[in-house]
Amino acid sequence: MSLLEVTDLKAGYGTLPVLGGISFEIEEGETAVLLGLNGAGKTTTILTLAGMLKPWSGTITFDGKDITGTDPRKLVADGIVLVPEGRHVFPQLTVAQNLRLGAWPYKRDRKGTREIVERAVEYFPRLRERWTQLGGTLSGGEQQMLAIARGLMARPKLLLIDESSLGLSPVLTQTVFEVVDKINDDGVTVFMVEQNAGVLSIADKAYVMEKGTLIYSGKGDEIMNNEEIREAYLGA
Ligand SMILES: Nc1ncnc2c1ncn2[C@@H]1O[C@H](COP(=O)(O)OP(=O)(O)O)[C@@H](O)[C@H]1O
Ligand SMILES: [Mg+2]
Repeated sequence: MSLLEVTDLKAGYGTLPVLGGISFEIEEGETAVLLGLNGAGKTTTILTLAGMLKPWSGTITFDGKDITGTDPRKLVADGIVLVPEGRHVFPQLTVAQNLRLGAWPYKRDRKGTREIVERAVEYFPRLRERWTQLGGTLSGGEQQMLAIARGLMARPKLLLIDESSLGLSPVLTQTVFEVVDKINDDGVTVFMVEQNAGVLSIADKAYVMEKGTLIYSGKGDEIMNNEEIREAYLGA
């Protein structure tokens, strides 16, 4: 049994269909990525998994349980945590406050939260240097680090990350991918949505999306070595 199983999922906005019935799975312990050009439906997919968007039809099971249409707060408590596109750090709160807010499902467990804050800061030492700085004054790369670290506060089993590389320099992008790889090594299953094919270096499995359908799936390195796919769909 896969950790997450998506079957014939359809979703959209108002009457506009976006996802045309997609099926895929994510195994426990792996890093899976979803690649595709702008407008392919990647964010729509991840928002639906996180419960922010109600599916039109199809099913999503997590840990053997049907979670289709479940409230997003409940999904966080179940272990599905989204790091959204655009980061959404609280600009008027400090780095420390942003992190602690991420621990809301466990706010009574102060000791556990302190430990997780420590671990998150080990992944991103830069955050410790910026500890009392306001979120809104961080660089784009630092905000991305904060957004991922804040996601860790909720103790994810499955961490969903939407376009973490957007707007980052190649060097920072690589740093973020390497840290996500480490987080995965430490036992968190990861699903990343990306336009940057560089993410394939940390992917166990990759899917390629075009116009709301999955047109290819394979091992990370298979897609990396497939010139046709790279040129047509990854803009590389
Ligand atoms: N809130 C929305 N309302 C209406 N249409 C939307 C909304 N968000 C996205 N779309 C449309 O859905 C399609 C897929 O968008 P999206 O999932 O954001 O793609 P991606 O993340 O791959 O760039 C696009 O055509 C986009 O214009
Ligand atoms: Mg998107």
